[in-house]
Amino acid sequence: YGSMAGLVKRNPAFSELNAEDIRYFEGILGEKNVIQDDERLMTANTDWMRKYKGSSKLMLLPKSTEEVSQILKYCNSRCLAVVPQGGNTGLVGGSVPVFDEVIINLSSMNNIISFDKVSGILVCEAGCILENLIAFLDNEGFIMPLDLGAKGSCQIGGNISTNAGGLRLLRYGSLHGTVLGLEAVLANGNVLDILGTLRKDNTGYDLKHLFIGSEGSLGIVTKVSILTPPKLSSVNVAFLACKDYDSCQRLLQDAKRKLGEILSAFEFLDSQAMDLVLHHLEGVRNPLPPSRHNFYLLIETTGSDESNDKQKLEAFLLRSLENGLISDGVLAQDINQASSFWRIREGIPEALLKAGAVYKYDLSIPVEKMYNLVEEMQDRLGNVAKTVAYGHLGDGNLHLNVSSPQYDDKILAQIEPFVYEWTSKYRGSISAEHGLGLMKANEILYSKSVETVQLMASIKKLLDPREILNPYKVLPQSLISAC
Ligand code: FAD
Ligand code: MLT
Ligand code: ZN
Repeated sequence: YGSMAGLVKRNPAFSELNAEDIRYFEGILGEKNVIQDDERLMTANTDWMRKYKGSSKLMLLPKSTEEVSQILKYCNSRCLAVVPQGGNTGLVGGSVPVFDEVIINLSSMNNIISFDKVSGILVCEAGCILENLIAFLDNEGFIMPLDLGAKGSCQIGGNISTNAGGLRLLRYGSLHGTVLGLEAVLANGNVLDILGTLRKDNTGYDLKHLFIGSEGSLGIVTKVSILTPPKLSSVNVAFLACKDYDSCQRLLQDAKRKLGEILSAFEFLDSQAMDLVLHHLEGVRNPLPPSRHNFYLLIETTGSDESNDKQKLEAFLLRSLENGLISDGVLAQDINQASSFWRIREGIPEALLKAGAVYKYDLSIPVEKMYNLVEEMQDRLGNVAKTVAYGHLGDGNLHLNVSSPQYDDKILAQIEPFVYEWTSKYRGSISAEHGLGLMKANEILYSKSVETVQLMASIKKLLDPREILNPYKVLPQSLISAC
């Protein structure tokens, strides 16, 4: 494990759990929803990357908003710190305790409340797993406006709390646009009902936005209302190779113009990312053999006219081959081939995990500068560790990962603060879509001004004066004084 508690000190103002607390929770939730069993706690204390590990002695599984409210009211009065947890797929150490915080996991709140076929508005509980919502909507002829590799485990409440971006943001925009309302329980147990289903509502401040991307630091999201697009009949996926990064950028510009309204994803990976996937994931093969290319792109189009859309994409690919922007390419002939292309792109995080230790950076950087950072990092690291780059090129979002067999402070010192300083120099974001969590709570000033962060701290104090909600995360500890 990477060091965790080493980064911060336990706030002594927080109480320690006692037998009376357990009895109280058993009283409201029932014994089986009060988890003290070592094995389950071990899983809930450990993040997806197995990099961050807490030592919580208790996980609570509420089944309703009312139960979440009772839990928080009690924890607030006792000054017991808590960590809201969804699918625990977060990548910044935000979803697991740092010390002995009580884990409140939303997985038992997984009901779909309503779906309106005319408007496409879905209302559901926060613990619904993204893949289950995708399957439910598929039956109704709709899709979720977001999709990500962690869909099998992540929950919509977790997606909203991290403002997850993912593979479809290019087309459907961020959750700040598609989430129409939500219900959240505040630190003192009060229930904030802003579960609207309106597209337009300008009555005062739009408070739902505070909870989108606040990583469980301002309240626990319990219900969600989200606008879902109709499922269109023609989806095409192409897997392409480019000789250099400049061609990738030019292809993106072209794709936006020539594919226009049907473009639904524009993802990239470099050759190191491809090598890693081929090496570590079973059954994955490079669709563009035999030579190794420097860059690969996955382009998806989604539209309503099967023959037109396909023709459009084919013409685009042909032109790009002729003018040399792509050196090779293949268009998926069926849904299985399309899934195999997506598997390459979505499988990269898993392949990195199998390769050993991984230092993950999730950056927004102007597209034309993006790969310069990767090359500079390669130069800094030499043979000590591998850089692996991929991401949502269409959104200006680079995932720069450094992979080595083991964690090593010398490698870390080569990466940080260099990567943050570089990003800040180009006014980029040190967290494009994963959030700050524990990993980057102290780095926020690379992307936000002091005044902005102070206002954030005031909002945190207003909503959670005893700072029981996900302590040590998101904002620097020095700005907040608890209990
Ligand atoms: P968790 O990991 O459990 O929690 C994440 C944060 O949200 C924590 O701070 C937690 O305290 C808080 N939280 C969770 N539920 C609630 C709630 N109901 N109320 C309040 N706070 C809550 N992210 C992207 O943006 N784009 C991607 O493409 C993407 N791909 C991924 C692929 C893989 C393979 C993996 C492992 C992760 C990926 N992620 C991606 C990161 C992660 O999946 C997302 O951040 C996801 O949205 C987290 O959801 P979760 O339910 O697992 O939340
Ligand atoms: C992705 O786009 O694959 C995710 O954000 C996960 C990651 O960055 O590794
Ligand atoms: Zn991503």
